Amino acid sequence: MRFHGTMTVNGQDHLSIGGCDTVDLIREFGSPLHIMDEDLFRQNCREYHKAFIEEIPGGEVAYACKAFCCQAILRIVCQEDLGIDVVSGGELYTALRAGADPSRIDFNGNNKTVEEIRYALENAVGRIIVDNFTEIETLDQIAGSLGVRPKVLLRIQPGVAAHTHQYTQTGILDSKFGLGISSGQAGDALRIMAGKQNMELTGIHCHIGSQIHEKETFAQTAQIMAAFMAGVSKDGGFQLTELNLGGGFGIQYTDADHPDTPEGYAQTILQALKEVFEQYAFPMPRRISVEPGRAIVGSTGTTLYTVGSVKGAPQTRRYVTIDGGMTDNPRPALYQAKYEMCLANKMSAPDEMTASLAGRCCEESSDVLIWDVPMPLAEPGDIVAVPSTGAYHYAMSSNYNRVGRPAIVLVSKGKAHVIVKREDYADITRNDLIPAHLLA
Ligand code: LLP
Repeated sequence: MRFHGTMTVNGQDHLSIGGCDTVDLIREFGSPLHIMDEDLFRQNCREYHKAFIEEIPGGEVAYACKAFCCQAILRIVCQEDLGIDVVSGGELYTALRAGADPSRIDFNGNNKTVEEIRYALENAVGRIIVDNFTEIETLDQIAGSLGVRPKVLLRIQPGVAAHTHQYTQTGILDSKFGLGISSGQAGDALRIMAGKQNMELTGIHCHIGSQIHEKETFAQTAQIMAAFMAGVSKDGGFQLTELNLGGGFGIQYTDADHPDTPEGYAQTILQALKEVFEQYAFPMPRRISVEPGRAIVGSTGTTLYTVGSVKGAPQTRRYVTIDGGMTDNPRPALYQAKYEMCLANKMSAPDEMTASLAGRCCEESSDVLIWDVPMPLAEPGDIVAVPSTGAYHYAMSSNYNRVGRPAIVLVSKGKAHVIVKREDYADITRNDLIPAHLLA
């Protein structure tokens, strides 16, 4: 298993993260448990800050908090001087509660409700990324009624098929997000937006998918967007000055993943933009934004589980069953996502068996986190660590089987702090109501 950030093996032969013994963390905070490596999270924020904000004139990084959102993490994002991309009233509320500067919040989403749009405008978010024709009218109306004139960008389908799981490709022409260039709809929408009194059209936005490694794909997208930006501005008689290229930068879950560095992505994108804008004799955008989620938070999370049983008859597969599963990590079920693992309480033990890491839910194959993985002889009570679970894990977790979500503990320099509490039975039943006639 590859080590990330502050992971080491300590004198007890235990996995340590942020200077904390993971076996002690389970004893103190219970199992299963999500660990967030604060130092690594800050380091990732800083690398994106340097590559895109410091080295690109007009560069901006908005952390896509759909990947992982809670107040403590968003406070760190603000301390590290990044903006925030939100896609719902709930994420916006969390960001505001965390003390985020509203002017550095981008509001995305393909079906924002009237209430959410009003909430965003009342709180003066920096930019609204408009998805479709209906939203142009709704936004214009609400902004007019509030007497505000928000900065707006239009979500574009650049027509790029990124090399990633089909479920996370979002830049293709058959996408529920945004409007297409080739169909003419994107141009039409921009002309309408430019004519609206109650919005300030500043630019265009796209997001081609997630867990993408090839910088060429980002370069190709940047070229398409730049050419469209220059062309449509000339034709439409308006000047677009802002370009947002979304997120999607991949991370390393296993040996099969070969992501580039933030620097590599940033410079490739910058070069691609320079070439096209020069060709069109069009000025570089005043603001060039990206919205990384996974690349900032993914590697910083590790999930710890306790082994309940080990079973398997001769000639059958062996299963190591843990006290979590698809409720805290739905990604194997949804995207056939691959992970590594280790036994955190016996780090130097050699691999002696092959087994599948099975969850505790009443599902068959969809609740197996890792298939056929070599590991040391596992026994009930062992602690399994699955790294790279910071992005789209807690954020997509569920209470299936009425299993409570694990606690999240932020670790750094030997100190551990709970940043999200474990859900107990009271939490699980909090919204249940029994009508009076059922009580009689
Ligand atoms: N911006 C927009 C408009 C997005 O839709 C997304 C992700 C991002 C930024 C951030 O993308 P990232 O840098 O994290 O790749 N649940 C899936 C991933 C869904 C991504 C959705 N949109 C998974 O677990 O792989």
